[in-house]
Amino acid sequence: MESLTIENFLKAKNEKGEVSREVCAALEALCSAATKIAKLAAGNGIGTDNLGSLTGAENTDGDEQKALDVLADQLICSTLAPTGVSAYLSEERDEAVIFEEGRDSQIVVASDPLDGSSNIDTNLTIGTIFSLYPAKAGNWLREGRAQQAAGFFAYGPQTVLLLTTGQGVDGFCLNEEGHFVQMDWQPQIPATTKEFAINAANSRFWPAKVQRYIDTLLAGVDGPRGTNFNMRWNGSLVADAFRIFRRGGIFLYPEDSRKNYENGRLRLVYEANPIAFLVEQAEGRASDGKIDILDITPTSYHMRVPLIFGSADEVDSYHSEQ
Ligand code: AHG
Ligand code: MN
Ligand code: MN
Repeated sequence: MESLTIENFLKAKNEKGEVSREVCAALEALCSAATKIAKLAAGNGIGTDNLGSLTGAENTDGDEQKALDVLADQLICSTLAPTGVSAYLSEERDEAVIFEEGRDSQIVVASDPLDGSSNIDTNLTIGTIFSLYPAKAGNWLREGRAQQAAGFFAYGPQTVLLLTTGQGVDGFCLNEEGHFVQMDWQPQIPATTKEFAINAANSRFWPAKVQRYIDTLLAGVDGPRGTNFNMRWNGSLVADAFRIFRRGGIFLYPEDSRKNYENGRLRLVYEANPIAFLVEQAEGRASDGKIDILDITPTSYHMRVPLIFGSADEVDSYHSEQ
């Protein structure tokens, strides 16, 4: 059977009225930028390339920028520019890039151009996360429920794309000819799991509720859950998320008592919203510990939120911990 390319997949969705031409154009541009980022990542360390090196600059969040953070951001911005989208919001930029005053597509693309920067030199999976939604000049922010499309690319053993336009989630893989082709897989997150992901090095800073919840998992068959759990933590949200789409799990980056971590580490607009849209479309659940991520009203481009997502029953278990 011939594999469906992303272009043909989007064309069919457009003909069914599920996605606009403008959104298709932006998604195709993102695929093109991601293909280049995947090549850069694969060639890192060969010759003079040193994409994990620090640039000496910091982004708005105070993260040190690495060479690939900056390159990925520039590639995405320049690839989106001719597509007709109105604005580009990036984790790596203080302000929105407004492509042309008066453009009336009203489509905003928000992106974490390079997720998992600490893994660039380690040959572990890194990625690009994106979110598309309608918004107008004057206020480029919208709640996550307004997203028209969202997804992420993961640059690992395979370069993959998980995409939603609101009718479930589809998976694509970059083939040897340089085309994203649909995988023979309909991503759905099982409701139950025995696997969790959290940076346990932060445990002394966690709120008591997080500590208690993780303790019940660690207690295994001898504890209240009566079953053993396993732990995985990649340090790249895209890698942890992809695994959860494959086989279930719960991911937690909660708030903690370190300075600047009172709302966790992950950013609502660039990371939590697109992941949450995908997760809900795959029958999982994503919350900040209190309400669904998609119902949060963003108040600034770079705001952080606690992020808990994955298998729905397990996210419910976290919620029921007091
Ligand atoms: P980014 O590289 O875009 O700053 O994102 C890194 C994020 C995310 O990928 C990961 O889940 C988390 O930060 C890891 O944080 P810690 O290093 O605090 O564990
Ligand atoms: Mn990130
Ligand atoms: Mn990033």
